Amino acid sequence: MWLAAAAPSLARRLLFLGPPPPPLLLLLLSRSSRRRRRRLHSLGLAAMPEKRPFERLPADVSPINYSLCLKPDLLDFTFEGKLEAAAQVRQATNQIVMNCADIDIITASYVPEGDEEIHATGFNYQNEDEKVTLSFPSTLQPGTGTLKIDFVGELNDKMKGFYRSKYTTPSGEVRYAAVTQFENVIDRKPYPDDENVVEVKFARTPVMSTYLVAFVVGEYDFVETRSKDGVCVRVYTPVGKAEQGKFALEVAAKTLPFYKDYFNVPYPLPKIDLIAIADFAAGAMENWGLVTYRETALLIDSKNSCSSSRQWVALVVGHELAHQWFGNLVTMEWWTHLWLNEGFASWIEYLCVDHCFPEYDIWTQFVSADYTRAQELDALDNSHPIEVSVGHPSEVDEIFDAISYSKGASVIRMLHDYIGDTDFKKGMNMYLTKFQQKNAATEDLWECLEGASGKPIAAVMNTWTKQMGFPLIYVEAEQVENDRLLKLSQRKFCASGPYVGEDCPQWMVPITISTSEDPNHAKLKILMDKPEMNVVLKNVKPDEWVKLNLGTVGFYRTQYSSDMLESLLPGIRDLSLPPVDRLGLQNDLFSLARAGIISTVEVLKVMEAFVNEPNYTVWSDLSCNLGILSTLLSHTDFYEEIQEFVKDVFSPIGERLGWDPKPGEGHLDALLRGLVLGKLGKAGHKATLEEARRRFKDHVEGKQILSADLRSPVYLTVLKHGDGTTLDIMIKLHKQADMQEEKNRIERVLGATLSPELIQKVLTFALSEEVRPQDTVSVIGGVAGGSKHGRKAAWKFIKDNWEELYNRYQGGFLISRLIKLSVEGFAVDKMAGEVKAFFESHPAPSAERTIQQCCENILLNAAWLKRDAESIHQYLLQRKASPPTV
Ligand code: BES
Ligand code: ZN
Repeated sequence: MWLAAAAPSLARRLLFLGPPPPPLLLLLLSRSSRRRRRRLHSLGLAAMPEKRPFERLPADVSPINYSLCLKPDLLDFTFEGKLEAAAQVRQATNQIVMNCADIDIITASYVPEGDEEIHATGFNYQNEDEKVTLSFPSTLQPGTGTLKIDFVGELNDKMKGFYRSKYTTPSGEVRYAAVTQFENVIDRKPYPDDENVVEVKFARTPVMSTYLVAFVVGEYDFVETRSKDGVCVRVYTPVGKAEQGKFALEVAAKTLPFYKDYFNVPYPLPKIDLIAIADFAAGAMENWGLVTYRETALLIDSKNSCSSSRQWVALVVGHELAHQWFGNLVTMEWWTHLWLNEGFASWIEYLCVDHCFPEYDIWTQFVSADYTRAQELDALDNSHPIEVSVGHPSEVDEIFDAISYSKGASVIRMLHDYIGDTDFKKGMNMYLTKFQQKNAATEDLWECLEGASGKPIAAVMNTWTKQMGFPLIYVEAEQVENDRLLKLSQRKFCASGPYVGEDCPQWMVPITISTSEDPNHAKLKILMDKPEMNVVLKNVKPDEWVKLNLGTVGFYRTQYSSDMLESLLPGIRDLSLPPVDRLGLQNDLFSLARAGIISTVEVLKVMEAFVNEPNYTVWSDLSCNLGILSTLLSHTDFYEEIQEFVKDVFSPIGERLGWDPKPGEGHLDALLRGLVLGKLGKAGHKATLEEARRRFKDHVEGKQILSADLRSPVYLTVLKHGDGTTLDIMIKLHKQADMQEEKNRIERVLGATLSPELIQKVLTFALSEEVRPQDTVSVIGGVAGGSKHGRKAAWKFIKDNWEELYNRYQGGFLISRLIKLSVEGFAVDKMAGEVKAFFESHPAPSAERTIQQCCENILLNAAWLKRDAESIHQYLLQRKASPPTV
């Protein structure tokens, strides 16, 4: 056994938001089995989950430097630890309160400098709050000293704290690695007598927060390079797979100098390691100097990885490395400001990928991946403001959601656009320089950006981060001689329609306006700081269209008067509207329909105007919305008709693309082909289905291996329209797959299978040893999203296996994801009641808000169905009778 990688894992839950003067606390470790579950407060009444009483640690004793020694035992799955922390007593006390989860303290003492050791006589664990209080028989006087603690713990299998991760060696042997998030300063030999123990020492780190410490013990190979700014970069892979680390290595080596230039602050450590961990709950974690990743977020095989995996690896590397500055060098002052970390990293990862891979057109993808997702969630009554007060640890889990990440990233994108790149960079540099090795809050960033730009940043941004939701801008126009007069008004957009009632929240909205004369440039930029505004656009011809929100950058939705909308639609068909504007327009209309503001039939007609669409991302967003509609209509008896519609919309582009790449095609063509063939195959398009079956057969027989980019669509198609034999073959392919990426690819499509017995088989498979614990969620989610029967079966399965599932994830964000994926597709009022009742008797504190959001979505679906099903049906029937000519 040898130790891979130094320094800084995943200990977010061991909240130790370090300097400046943080209270003394011992980090650690995995979530306690002792932790009792809390009452779920009743749904529906309050928008916010009830707050549990919680206090931050007292500041009378604070740590200066930790020396920590950990000795993991990979056979017994236990560890022993010794801590010696230099500490400062600021106020006389006979207690020290620290954070502590799931460890047992054996002895603890405090040695005042130049004085006698004082042994703690009591350890009072407050497991609910993940704290321990050490009591001393005499008073600790102000001054410095050393806190010494010996402790033991379990290397748990919950992917939290200090845990074990299972892997198979190339020869097929099962082994374990220990993965952690702990201190790295070891300056003495703790176990000198044991010859079988290898001791590895780490250098002293800069002042840092303890949640960013990590180490990993296990067998790994690595590839190494030096970035052009002199940082030693390594990517650690499973043994025998070093080649698969090369892509991420290249991305990381390009990314470090990019951030160094952008922030004008060098990377603060001499080395950075990126390591792939077999069992890993999140996607990746930004530990300082040792970033941990799921295998699928780091490893790329030149033949067996698909284009979307490459893109994902690039984004995740870009995200975590951004945290090395934004989050690690400057850490948020408290979890309320978590959004700043995550929102910022989720924005700048795109900037970085755009720099490394301009051919990905990644900013357009931002809109469909983050922006629209955030708006969907934020339109709910059960959303929350970006800045949210956080107390108890379970509330921290709750805020790792699309509001912190995707809305956070979207409002930063809007802000960057409002400020301009030069001043934005200047402000970033001020912030990172002023607060390096310190903590900072949201206001601190605003102050720096305000200083750099001279614009009212705090005033504008407070309207976006301190209140939930976003506006719907209603606009109508009038031609007055050579000018166009626009009347704008804002009102909060709700998923159930525009906000009704007094006291409608208001936003300061940076608005851009473009016209058909120059669709790619803003003719006018304004800051809308009132409920209503009139704007004059000079010199606009009567036949020109006028559009708001160029580039879909402003975080609002737009509702046009009918004549304005009418004039925009030809721009979809003839592609004169820019891609991201076509995407935004379609997405706004779709959400207006879901909210009952316009009819869904109108949106179907708009979707038909995309016949000439060449852009991957525009298709991807449209496809996603059609998927939502398909799921909704699976509750009706005309599901087949909507499949016909899907086939009609996607066949022209399917025919243009064909199955095989053409010379000169690139990344986006590969993504588009996969998307379109998958959509057609799933909808049962005959020619696609036949070709998919033929290619699948050749693949299985080893005659012609499917290219990685075609595997997902082919697997999905043959499974959905296949039988038990197909499922068995897929499960066999899963077993044989060497790459986790291939296993995940298969796991995600298994739920497409249709027959009740096969669905049951897939659900059982989800909990089997074959599926890694972190991936169970996507298998069950795939079943719920796969078919009408799947949805019911998945929900029943979750109820029947609740204890096992809950225990697997010990609360945490995977349980929220599981619940969301599994219940959100229901569209019958009574299901909202059923879901609510189930979680009242089976509480999941960290998923409280998600559960409320799901129940709200179920009710919204039900209302949508009641409102529009009949007219959609009529439209589809009439279309069948006289198909539109394209
Ligand atoms: N700090 C998070 C990791 C994290 C998330 C830990 C949730 C614990 C709970 C990390 O920087 C992150 O955001 N990871 C993302 C991937 C990223 C590319 C969006 C994740 O894990 O999903
Ligand atoms: Zn992050």
